[in-house]
Amino acid sequence: MSGEEVRERILGILEERRGYVSGEEIASLLGITRSAVWKHVRALAAEGAEIQAGSRGYRLIRPPDRLLRYRILAGLRTERFGRELHLHALVDSTNELAKRLARAGAPEGTVVCAERQSAGRGRMGRSWHSPPGGLWFSLVLRPLMPLHRINLVSLMLGLGVAQVVEEMYALPAVLKWPNDVMVHRRKVCGVLVETEAEPEAIRFVVAGVGVNANPESLPEELGGVSLHRLLGRKVDRCELLAGLLNRFEELYGVLHREPERVLEMYSERCSTLGRRVRIEGLEESIAGTALSLGEDGSLLVETPRGVRRVSSGMCVHLRH
Ligand code: BTN
Repeated sequence: MSGEEVRERILGILEERRGYVSGEEIASLLGITRSAVWKHVRALAAEGAEIQAGSRGYRLIRPPDRLLRYRILAGLRTERFGRELHLHALVDSTNELAKRLARAGAPEGTVVCAERQSAGRGRMGRSWHSPPGGLWFSLVLRPLMPLHRINLVSLMLGLGVAQVVEEMYALPAVLKWPNDVMVHRRKVCGVLVETEAEPEAIRFVVAGVGVNANPESLPEELGGVSLHRLLGRKVDRCELLAGLLNRFEELYGVLHREPERVLEMYSERCSTLGRRVRIEGLEESIAGTALSLGEDGSLLVETPRGVRRVSSGMCVHLRH
């Protein structure tokens, strides 16, 4: 067992008991010495865990703000999403790693999550600032739907994040088309969906989700905001990840059975509809009033030259 695994086991034991556990008992459960237990407890405290140590042993007050497998699994109610879980301290991009796993046959629902990304990627070729404290993860999906409906997967993910942010933290989360999750007009989460397909069939989709949970820093000029800042306290990223995966699995089922229901829920929460917008695409930029969504998740925009259907691009909300 690595030191990391031992520390995770110690936290698991303390969390399960909810009271004092003696150093001797932990030592015998893990097959290590009492002084090794003491060293690991100190290391956990240095990571931010609050552990009371006294004559009766150790008691966990608060776990460290770290991605902990046992805590994520404890919150999952899913059948498949998150059941294969890859946790990393540092990766280039969780989307890249998830794509490699998907090509090698990783099952639907596989999740790759990292404390930090050195080359996090955003939509439209942008980079994504991914410091420690954020929730950066990717989900492997193998949807059974026609290729032209694939954008609905990305809308569904944004919708899931907005619902969970509102339910868990009572924050008014809305969607800026296609899938930015906004609170008080600032971005708390972005979604990057990448698809590998044959001419007609989808091989897999990798859905990358970046939630500004408790990041150490965020570039102000990009208009992002963290949940930490909005709430004035840190959020529990393990609970949040489990909550998101639970919701994604539910909505993914709805998407396959009743795609129009997902569009309906999305539209109710979408702050883009009815507004003046500019959509900056790779080739052209168009301005007009956002009317509604097409059944493939595209945005219908009324412009001086008639109604245009846009399926990708950066959306800017213009002043009324
Ligand atoms: C955007 O709004 O531009 C999309 C941002 C998506 C960021 C996430 S973080 C996890 C995953 N890995 C990446 O490299 N990007 C996505």
